[in-house]
Amino acid sequence: MTQTEETTPATNDTPLVPIEKVVSLSKRRGFVYPNSEIYGGVAGIYDFGPLGVEMRNNIRRYWWWSMVQRHDNVVGIEGANITHPRVWEASGHVENFVDRLVDCKKCKRRFRIDHLPEENLAEHKCPVCGGELTTEPRVFNLLMETYLGVVEGDRMKTYLRGEACQNIYLDYDNVLKSSRVQVPFGICQIGKAYRNEVTPGNFLFRQREFEQWDLQFFVHPSEMDKWYEYWKQYRFDWYSGILNHKDRLRFREHASDELAHYAKKAFDIEYRTVLGWQEWEGIHWRQDWDLKRHSEYSGQDLSYTDPNTKERYIPWIVETSGGVDRTFLNLLLDAYEEEPDPAGKEPRTVLHLHPWLAPIKVAVLPLQKNKEELVSTARSIHENLQRFMVSQYDDVANIGRRYRRQDEIGTPFCVTVDFQSVEDQTVTVRERDGMTQIRLPISELTMYLLDRVTWK
Ligand code: GAP
Repeated sequence: MTQTEETTPATNDTPLVPIEKVVSLSKRRGFVYPNSEIYGGVAGIYDFGPLGVEMRNNIRRYWWWSMVQRHDNVVGIEGANITHPRVWEASGHVENFVDRLVDCKKCKRRFRIDHLPEENLAEHKCPVCGGELTTEPRVFNLLMETYLGVVEGDRMKTYLRGEACQNIYLDYDNVLKSSRVQVPFGICQIGKAYRNEVTPGNFLFRQREFEQWDLQFFVHPSEMDKWYEYWKQYRFDWYSGILNHKDRLRFREHASDELAHYAKKAFDIEYRTVLGWQEWEGIHWRQDWDLKRHSEYSGQDLSYTDPNTKERYIPWIVETSGGVDRTFLNLLLDAYEEEPDPAGKEPRTVLHLHPWLAPIKVAVLPLQKNKEELVSTARSIHENLQRFMVSQYDDVANIGRRYRRQDEIGTPFCVTVDFQSVEDQTVTVRERDGMTQIRLPISELTMYLLDRVTWK
């Protein structure tokens, strides 16, 4: 999809946010920066700034809590980015992880044939300049190569992992032997993946280095249907729970000709942005593909013996695999709003981020910075709140500007310390979305905020 769809209204008539808006906000306020920018940047690679890293950590921690800590039959691992090269032969990626490309003879642009509109493909016509496209697609493997060892000629070629989940199959037997899990059980991981994407772009949407969160859930084949449905719905509800625009979320089943080489069936959870409906997470029916292939290639028996029935079998796998960066991007696009000002002044830019995921939970603002009694009360409130959540102290500029600054980065609460605070130990708590204000005793503040910014 191109970004010409920017002005397309969403189904509930709220305009879809142009990607440029969040790119600009991200750079201006320290969420995301282009990688190696002083050298001209690298396509498809980004760095996260001070606010970005806080928000990313919140997103990761909330996923981990929901998937691992809230399920007695799920455990976590953290595998390395580099593995033995045979892993990628066994996984099928050396053979199958390819994009097919055609080139425009006139403008020299390259297109993935699975991304070309049907008529352009049929007529060999470039969707950008109308020039003629080459007819024979060229094949590119997406795995990124690297080399281990220092002696030239003796170095081992291997790959940065093309999908993070492979470590889970590699560690499956160790987890079985070292923890007390029994089928059905799951192993989760959050970690980087690397793909030599031919057409990286649309900011964080398609990158060459990105992060994935995966659950691999191991089941008896007779229970595959039940667990597939369970996780499919669980993941949909998880995303729905952190969105403002829930009507922009849907399932889409893969047609048989678009299934990945490891999947017998797949549903994508898709989200609608200016890029159209796009994949956010895949729910894959991987069956016994992975454990069977790794058994074959490694010569290690990865079958499971049921401790009660003594039945021996290769467990089947339900995979839920999503992108941390895509979540980050979709949440910014979902949250961004420029609210017109009723008095006709500058619009209010606000990020309606879920309070659980917002980078800063509370800003503490003394009404004036040159009044010692206000400053010391505000400082002591801020220092106390820092023990429990990310709090920011801000005394620069008038109070209206400070509220706007916090709205723009999604801070759900601002606490204002004024002269009354010094007299009666109360503060004003202002809420971001409705801009409503209440008066609270300082002694109740921590519990009030914790109740609203802690996931449950
Ligand atoms: N283990 C299965 C697997 O890797 P995938 O559909 O290729 O499946 C899972 O990737 C998720 O990873 C996607 O739904 C998407 O959120 C994210 N993802 C994939 N490629 C990406 C890229 N180039 N840039 C950013 N995120 C990507």
